[in-house]
Amino acid sequence: MNIVFITSEAYPFAKTGGLADYSYSLPKALAKRGHTVHLFLPRYYCVDKQKFDCTLIGKPLAVPIGSGIRWSGIYYTSYLEGVHTYFIEHDDYYGRYGLYDYNGVSYNDNAERFIYFCRACIEAIKQLAIVPEIIHCNDWQTACIPLFLNTHYANDYVLKKAKSILTIHNVGYQGVFGKEVLGLMQLSEELFNPENIEFFGNVNLLKAGLVNADNLVTVSKKYAQEIQETEYGYDLAPIFKKYNQKLSGILNGVDYEHWNPETDDFIPYKYSIHNLTGKRKCKKALKNFYGLKNENVPIIGCISRLTYQKGIDILINTLDWLFFDEKEVQFVIVGSGEQWIVDRFEALRAMFPDRIGVWWGYNEKLAHLIEAGSDFYVMPSRYEPSGLNQMYSLAYGTIPIVRATGGLDDSIEQFDEKLKTGNGFKYKNNDSAELYTTIRHALRVYKNKVIMNKLINNAMLFKRSWDDTAKEYEELYNTISQNN
Ligand code: ADP
Ligand code: GLC
Repeated sequence: MNIVFITSEAYPFAKTGGLADYSYSLPKALAKRGHTVHLFLPRYYCVDKQKFDCTLIGKPLAVPIGSGIRWSGIYYTSYLEGVHTYFIEHDDYYGRYGLYDYNGVSYNDNAERFIYFCRACIEAIKQLAIVPEIIHCNDWQTACIPLFLNTHYANDYVLKKAKSILTIHNVGYQGVFGKEVLGLMQLSEELFNPENIEFFGNVNLLKAGLVNADNLVTVSKKYAQEIQETEYGYDLAPIFKKYNQKLSGILNGVDYEHWNPETDDFIPYKYSIHNLTGKRKCKKALKNFYGLKNENVPIIGCISRLTYQKGIDILINTLDWLFFDEKEVQFVIVGSGEQWIVDRFEALRAMFPDRIGVWWGYNEKLAHLIEAGSDFYVMPSRYEPSGLNQMYSLAYGTIPIVRATGGLDDSIEQFDEKLKTGNGFKYKNNDSAELYTTIRHALRVYKNKVIMNKLINNAMLFKRSWDDTAKEYEELYNTISQNN
């Protein structure tokens, strides 16, 4: 099939979180399965044109926005194996330091930046004479595309045959802006009603995608259910419910070329399910990195964006309590994000300096060392559409301790000591006492080496590759292209 994949971030060009991993791995996996895949991204300042061998192609691109047009350049690279990658360059919008914000403060023209990007991608498809069967969009930043296809381009001979699909990675970010953005979109007041893009007096770009896309996907089956309830879908829950016939969940995968303890060049010692000596050495290296002593004490790791979603504040309360009751446990984290979470963690570390290791910022190499060197990996998320690190942890024989929500619930099976089944530990409620009990349970299991080894073995046998994910998307693409 001819697939156009549009996203606001993709590894290795620009990354703030799991969307970038997804937008790198899924297009690659689809291309490997024989599809023609075109990937579109903004040309942010961080996308190094020389390093990625980008060339300017086509003619200058005229993109309608507001009361006029603005010009862009289209850059092309074949850097990503099998995937035709295009960047929309417009430095006024994308030639900046952060992708969406500067030092945590969102750019005040984000509506304009991404409305423009959506329109530019459609104009680029036309200019480059791409004939898409599927146009696959992701999150609010690209959710205007289905709306534009149904309005400005409804009579376009090529585009009207394409099916649009929107993957929702996080309902916590919806792109809600004032009514004036209708002007930027060059759309009439007619659409500004609760059945379409209006949302409590504002325009909701994610909602524009939900209403207008031919099909909706979220990144796990559980999350597809959860967002139909107010706790997870917020004010959009009724819209998810209304459109649930076109909504499904497809779990993300693991890039085993990148996250594999047998071949990982980021870790100091390699290992496999058959020989865990390297894992023990990685644990020592991890403790050295953080300046923690006492090799034999179990260690819990965490790699996270520091936001409310990830429940790190709940974890801080739990650790505070746990460290008083349980002397034999240590904890390490690498994280970047909100300062209030850093401050609270630093206060805890001041109380237990020889048992907690922190590194604030983004550090890919350290993330791999944490996956390899930890005994347990904790994800206390308030919600987690898919989550990737719990699956990376399984590959490294590091046992996940997770809240049973979204993709965490779909990928982690509770360990049963009698039956010796399961690959991790999970708890139901968003509550530091439940997390405390679950960690203590995990630490009890850790003390029995035979049972713990069985659990590690179970974890390392788990497989969910991007090819598995791509197969499910492929089936969906086939089904929706047959619908009229
Ligand atoms: P989300 O996209 O919600 O942040 P995911 O679990 O889908 O969560 O993906 C997070 C990705 O970002 C993983 O690849 C993880 O290793 C990476 N990551 C998050 N924070 C950091 C950090 N501070 N340093 C290195 N990698 C990080
Ligand atoms: C979002 C979600 C995360 C998911 C990622 C990629 O950032 O928070 O759970 O894994 O998107 O789909």
